Order: sequence, then structure tokens, then C-alpha cells
Amino acid sequence: MDWNREILQKPQWKEEITNREQKERVAKIIAEKVQEGDVIGFGSGSTSYLAAIEIANKIQTENIKITAIPTSYEIEMLCTYLGIPTASLENKKPDWCFDGADEVDNDNWMIKGRGAAMFNEKLNIKSAGKIYILIDESKRVNKLGEKFPIPVEVNPNALNYVKQEISNMGVTSIELRMALKKDGPVITQNGNLILDVRFNDIDYMLEKKLKEITGVIETGLFIGYNVEVIS
Ligand code: A5P
Repeated sequence: MDWNREILQKPQWKEEITNREQKERVAKIIAEKVQEGDVIGFGSGSTSYLAAIEIANKIQTENIKITAIPTSYEIEMLCTYLGIPTASLENKKPDWCFDGADEVDNDNWMIKGRGAAMFNEKLNIKSAGKIYILIDESKRVNKLGEKFPIPVEVNPNALNYVKQEISNMGVTSIELRMALKKDGPVITQNGNLILDVRFNDIDYMLEKKLKEITGVIETGLFIGYNVEVIS
């Protein structure tokens, strides 16, 4: 028996999607890559949302069977609504994955995590055979950190300690990310908090240095990943 899925509603992004035309274009390009039997890591954010819709169209029209490994509740719910079967990294390894990004520099270093899903996103990216990053031109930067802070996911018990350690790393600001439509802070899908941190300088060791701090679960910094950027 199937549930009445009315609660999941018709797919609708929570706000107007910026640069929608460009995002729809890259969504179509990624949908073209889908093959029968693929296990695909689905990223989060509005670009990934549009990509999931294009992929659903493709598999329906061509009667293709795939499995999605979603990185957030919103993408998992969207897949369910669209009839795309899902699995987790516990039982499937992605052949390839796609995701969006907040900033991409000339070496394809990235900042991700505006949607607070970077832990699952990094896990998918590290697990997948091939990685596609879908961006519109607004995501290109000369220097990482131009527009976005680096999100750092922190175990709640370690909040003060992590803040103290990060404060000594050349930061210009550290903010606890607060929730909208909920009192208090954002709580990630893994039950953690997010610190949004701006650094004076982002060097190639920063991702590793942040991960060495006890209590840091993950960061939105992606340095030196072998990704193919589609824009
Ligand atoms: C989600 O946590 C993020 O990493 C997104 O992938 C990133 O913020 C890109 O989002 P948009 O596709 O909405 O720009």
C-alpha cells in the first residue's frame, strides 16, 4: 500500500531561484548523462533541485531505472515525490554524483554549504567515481571567500572549544547560523550546529586544519577535489 503523499506537495523551491535559466541549462546537461542502472549521488540546493526534476523527466520518458543517493531531506523528499528510488551510502556506492556550489575559483576549489548539507555532500563526493559540479556564472570567483563565509559543522557540545580554536586562525568573523521559521540556531541533518566563518586568507591547508579541531564534523571548504565543473 502507498502513502497519500499530499504532505510532500508539488515540488516548489522555497524562494525564487536566482539565475534560473542558467541553472536549468546545466540541469538539462546533467540529465543527458544518466544511463540505465546508474547509482547517482544527488546534491542539495536549487541547482540540484532543478537537476533532479530534469533527471526525473528523462528516466520517465526513456523508461530508465536509476537509484539516487540524496544528500538532504529536501532532495530525498523531492526524489520520493518524483518517483526516483533512493538508497543510502550504507548500501550503495554512487557511480557518479552531481552537486551545486556557492563559490568556485580558477583551480576549482569550492565553498559549499549554504544549505547546511555539506557533510553529506562531501561524503557523496568522496564516495563517487566521478563528480560533476553544476554552476551558473555568479558562482565563479577569483578568490574563495569573496562572497560566502565558510560553513563549519560543529558538534553542539564542542561549540565553545571550536570557536576558541578557530578564533586563533586568522578570522575576520565567526557567526552561529540562526534558523528561519524556528527559534534558535540551524540544526543540521546530523544534529549539529553551523558556524559561518570568514578568514583573512584561505590557503590549501585550511580544510585539513579545520578538520583537525576536535568537534568539527565537516566544513564547506573543498580544496583540490577532482571535479568537472559544468556551467
Ligand atoms: C547545499 O548545502 C549547498 O552546498 C549547495 O550545493 C550550494 O549552496 C549551491 O546552492 P544553489 O544551487 O541553490 O545555488
